[in-house]
Amino acid sequence: MLTISDIVIALVSLFLLNSFRVFVRARCQNTLPIPPGPLCLPIIGSLLSIPTHVPGKVYAAWSRKYKSDLIAVRAFGQLSIIINSKQAAQELYERRSAVFADRPRWTMLELTGWNFAASFTPYSQEWRAQRKILNHSLHPSVTPMHNPILLTKVQTLLTNLYVKPEDFRQHLHHHAASNVMAIAYGYDVKRANDPFVDVGTRALLTLADCQLPGARMVNAMPMMRYLPHWLPGMGFMSYTARAKALVSELQDGPFAYAKRSLIDGTACPSLASAQLELNDAQGGGVEGEKTLKRALATFFAGKTVTVFASSILALVLHPSVQKRAQAELDRVVGHSRLPTFEDQPSLPYISAICREAMRWNVPVPLAVAHSPTQDEIYDGMLIPEGAAVMLNAWGILHDPETYPDPETFKPERFLTAEGALNDDDLQVVFGFGRRSCVGVHLANERRGRKRDYCQCRVQGRTRQVSMISATSDTVFGN
Ligand code: HEM
Repeated sequence: MLTISDIVIALVSLFLLNSFRVFVRARCQNTLPIPPGPLCLPIIGSLLSIPTHVPGKVYAAWSRKYKSDLIAVRAFGQLSIIINSKQAAQELYERRSAVFADRPRWTMLELTGWNFAASFTPYSQEWRAQRKILNHSLHPSVTPMHNPILLTKVQTLLTNLYVKPEDFRQHLHHHAASNVMAIAYGYDVKRANDPFVDVGTRALLTLADCQLPGARMVNAMPMMRYLPHWLPGMGFMSYTARAKALVSELQDGPFAYAKRSLIDGTACPSLASAQLELNDAQGGGVEGEKTLKRALATFFAGKTVTVFASSILALVLHPSVQKRAQAELDRVVGHSRLPTFEDQPSLPYISAICREAMRWNVPVPLAVAHSPTQDEIYDGMLIPEGAAVMLNAWGILHDPETYPDPETFKPERFLTAEGALNDDDLQVVFGFGRRSCVGVHLANERRGRKRDYCQCRVQGRTRQVSMISATSDTVFGN
């Protein structure tokens, strides 16, 4: 029978072994310095300094303090490097994309099963297969086919907001989920307590626990997963088992629904039905279906309500912005109908509000970590192979040199002197390089402009399609 002191010795040995491994690797690798950062103590590293509240703000301040685009923090031997400038992000993620296209292997992602998602899978054959499906489904020539769904769902949202404005959060969540489930699976989300949405939402909540540096010791010391479950500090194992069941159900439930409805002839057009038919036609078999199931479940992870909520908050806090937006709508749309996709080019101020909402309250403030597959040198600093590299989108979008008075909500910063939209396409919000957001064409109205009135082939027929409007895009994407 193990005693408490045996357990303590085992855990300390694990710590030391891990720290020694990191130390030896650092010595053998290179004598170049890693990027600067806060005080690093033995074993716990800079854990005590790692910010939990608006981390992007703290990292940006450190970047200014140390006069360096890159900042490094460590927790239990895991090195994280934070990129604080657009130039550095483009250099590393775009120009060196072959090296920076991998993701760190967080043990928690593996234990909870979240590593199924395209966003977290290593740079591998599985990632390529999922990304191909997603690229195809979210290509700018294809996304306009979702417009009818988006318009119908927006009308339901507006009715709900009008009837019960105090429940706006609930309406926004319901709306985002309805869009995703209709587009991906042809599924009509129930008004309340929808079983698929319930599972998906609970699964998403477990994601936050998987990625933060230092959030879970097991991320830093993967060997811990092999220790007996009854040891103190091993409670995370039962947590991950529960999370894994939810993550699996998130993939299986809606996919089984889509397959069933295809077989019994009740399927609504959706990505699932189109891709299942394609998989059959191409003889993709069971493996093809598995990849498709995972790729579609990634859609649910692309659903957040941040941009909706920040747009509403901004309009409530800034009545003058609301007044100017209303005046633009009245002038372009009039009072007898709702805006449509065709109106969007004539609504630059509304588009500027959507962009400013994403800049002001960045939806993904510290973007998903990348991991270099070999040592890289940037500006005389070493970025070691396997480090977790994160883009501080919040810091870049609140840099006072690019965005003067950055805490203030000012849609005008996205307009030219003539009142047209300027060229700041907010790419920082969606990331750079091979792992950049695949949903960008659905979520960002600017790119939509380029496909205005383009001809596209949808299910064998050529039809005239129009662009996605800023309002519905933002409503969908976030
Ligand atoms: C305003 C809405 C959205 C924002 C701000 C956003 C932002 C991001 C960011 C920052 C990344 C990480 C980029 C990187 O690793 O460098 C990402 C990745 C991703 N996004 Fe989005 N996203 C949005 C909407 C969507 C939508 C609607 C989908 C639809 C499925 C989607 C699917 C994905 C996927 C699959 C990835 C992983 C790409 C990969 O690792 O290859 N996103 N997104």
